[in-house]
Amino acid sequence: MTPSISGHTALAGVLGNPVHHSLSPAMHNAALEELGLDWVYLALPAAADQLEAVLRGLEAVDCRGLNVTLPHKQAVAGLCRTLSPLAERLGAVNTLVRHPQGGWRGDNTDVAGFLAPLRAGGRDWQGKRAVVLGCGGSARAVVAALVELGCGSIELAGRNAAKQEALLASCRCWAPQLEALTWQPQTTQPCQSTGLESALAEASLVVNTTPVGMASASDPGAASRCPLSPVELEALPPQSCVYDLIYTPRPTALLAAAAARGCEALDGLEMLVQQGAAALRQWSGIDAVPVAAMRAAALAQLSPPGTGP
Ligand SMILES: NC(=O)c1ccc[n+]([C@@H]2O[C@H](COP(=O)([O-])OP(=O)(O)OC[C@H]3O[C@@H](n4cnc5c(N)ncnc54)[C@H](OP(=O)(O)O)[C@@H]3O)[C@@H](O)[C@H]2O)c1
Repeated sequence: MTPSISGHTALAGVLGNPVHHSLSPAMHNAALEELGLDWVYLALPAAADQLEAVLRGLEAVDCRGLNVTLPHKQAVAGLCRTLSPLAERLGAVNTLVRHPQGGWRGDNTDVAGFLAPLRAGGRDWQGKRAVVLGCGGSARAVVAALVELGCGSIELAGRNAAKQEALLASCRCWAPQLEALTWQPQTTQPCQSTGLESALAEASLVVNTTPVGMASASDPGAASRCPLSPVELEALPPQSCVYDLIYTPRPTALLAAAAARGCEALDGLEMLVQQGAAALRQWSGIDAVPVAAMRAAALAQLSPPGTGP
């Protein structure tokens, strides 16, 4: 339910472009209501060339806190007064907190969000082997999280050698266990084998950070795609965990195939909820934020009543 808005109501929100599809307003407004905070959280579309002005304006109207989503996570990092050590290391900000001396402090709660379901699972990841598919913005946060978990080897599978090398170079000093894995996605030639298979066969954790398999209003076939070919899927050890950052559809084709092999399957919804909860803790100073209400609101937004089978 939307909190009632008065002349006292404070503002928080998420900056992105486009941002109308974001689940964050539903999640945060549910939490704000349960906490009894007289704030409202809005999706705030912002063009890249207006970001600096938008941040100044939101500070001027006493905005209590912001999330940042695509495509602004890197650009916003350059507009902050200070960065947390993690945001500085990643060069990406998803959470802005007001700085006491003016301006914004940038942080990155994607790492904490990604880690939460893995830690809740109670497995020991120390020394374990991980494979990461994709080398874009979220792959960097995933690598930082896997380093924090103590993974002994992290293999980064990318289809673009230049981007892969750039990511490796920028992580090398804090992720010495990171290695490049050549990957030529073969999803249209399912019978060919690829160099990824042997890495998958040894992996305890496989993370998909590509958008392959994400539902798309403009591409009806998108949701049925899988980033791994059937041969690669067969290499997955049944005792491994497969973690897909995507949460629409639920399950993704990758997770459905992994679960059919007996693997543990995690999707990105809990990451989304937990990164939001970590941001709200910082803005509000309240540690016990209502994570269950945030999760329920996100789920309701994904499958509104009457849309189920
Ligand atoms: N659950 C959450 O809270 C959460 C948080 C962040 C992101 N996500 C999800 O994670 C996904 C990636 O986000 P991002 O910000 O990292 O995106 P990004 O920066 O655009 O990176 C995407 C990566 O996937 C690769 N890729 C794209 N299409 C591919 C294909 N057909 N085959 C193989 N590789 C492909 C890209 O390679 P090229 O560079 O060669 O194109 C790039 O390395 C999105 O689906 C996003 O919704 C979820």
